[in-house]
Amino acid sequence: MTRLSKEVDDVAFLSWAKPTSDTPQHIKDGAIAAIKKGLVGGYSENAGLLKLREEIVRKLKRDNNINANPAQILVTVGAIEGLSAAVMALIDPGDEVILPSPTYSTHIRQVVIASGKPVLVPSIEEEGFIWDIDGVKKAITGKTRAIMYCSPSNPTGTVFDEKQLRQLAEIALENNLTVITDEAYEYFVFDGHKHFSIASIPEMRKNVVSCYTFTKTYAMTGWRIGYLHADEELIPQITKAHIPFAICAPVVSQYAALAALEGPQDCVVDFRDHYFSARNVMCERLDRLDSIFEYHKPGGSYLMFPKILLNEGRDSAAFCKKLLREARVSTTPGIAFGPTGQSHLRLSFCVSDKEIHKAFDRMESYFK
Ligand SMILES: Cc1ncc(COP(=O)(O)O)c(C=O)c1O
Repeated sequence: MTRLSKEVDDVAFLSWAKPTSDTPQHIKDGAIAAIKKGLVGGYSENAGLLKLREEIVRKLKRDNNINANPAQILVTVGAIEGLSAAVMALIDPGDEVILPSPTYSTHIRQVVIASGKPVLVPSIEEEGFIWDIDGVKKAITGKTRAIMYCSPSNPTGTVFDEKQLRQLAEIALENNLTVITDEAYEYFVFDGHKHFSIASIPEMRKNVVSCYTFTKTYAMTGWRIGYLHADEELIPQITKAHIPFAICAPVVSQYAALAALEGPQDCVVDFRDHYFSARNVMCERLDRLDSIFEYHKPGGSYLMFPKILLNEGRDSAAFCKKLLREARVSTTPGIAFGPTGQSHLRLSFCVSDKEIHKAFDRMESYFK
């Protein structure tokens, strides 16, 4: 959609799941200071700077209720490299990985490039795209090795609650499966929803790889910096994939990440407040198009996944292309997130209110 959007003039753009704010100044200053001190020209330890890992340990205790130590942390090139390295380390050819559908399409591709088999379990849309726990149980075979999900979810914005995640943990423990989590949007939850990290369940200590990122929390997309937490026994295995992918995460970005964790956290609250208000604006505008779209209010992230009620929406890719060409609004087709994504589109509200209004003014005239 990004490429196609460039062929159309003055597009109202709701396609990207990336923060549109710039990285806060104190984080940039941390990186600049490290550059000036000559600290960033070489590699760091493969696992990442010890000082950064110590800060991450503190953050995991404070915000995720996870008791970790620096030997359980691997600093990665964004959450993406952590997820890729974890999948590469854990999945042998032919192993099955259970994912909810719809889900972040990159997870599906990560399983495929490790020669694993993604097994997509349709989410329960009527209840806001929650896990179908019975569906997960039925999907388990002798080849199942892992369960992989993001919460809050890209594309649906669903925050899987503690009760469901405890049920998933039980299934994982009964079947000796590893749960691979992507918690990229952990701080962006609304309406009393709570982000729950499955690794905070003590019995799950050896059964979880949790992946995190600075990308969303601190608007650091381009710095390519994230980290994962796993049991000490798993870290050397994951490192065997991390080294050929990256050797280490960019050192300048590790210093920026350190500044992010050590500095004031008001920026995170400001980002969340902005996304909360933008979500409400988008929901209000969607309410006015209730003959075209039906939606669940997302409890987190900055994404939502309305269902297209028109017949032509059944082919979500064709629908999105038409919307782009004829209404000059760029969205993302639901099919990109798994087969149950068909008849949906993903809308991002990590944009200004002005952009949301521009997109919906256009859609209102288009669908009139
Ligand atoms: C669920 C999810 N995970 C990971 C990423 C990418 O994270 P990073 O930039 O840390 O690699 C994205 C980006 O859109 C995402 O939506």
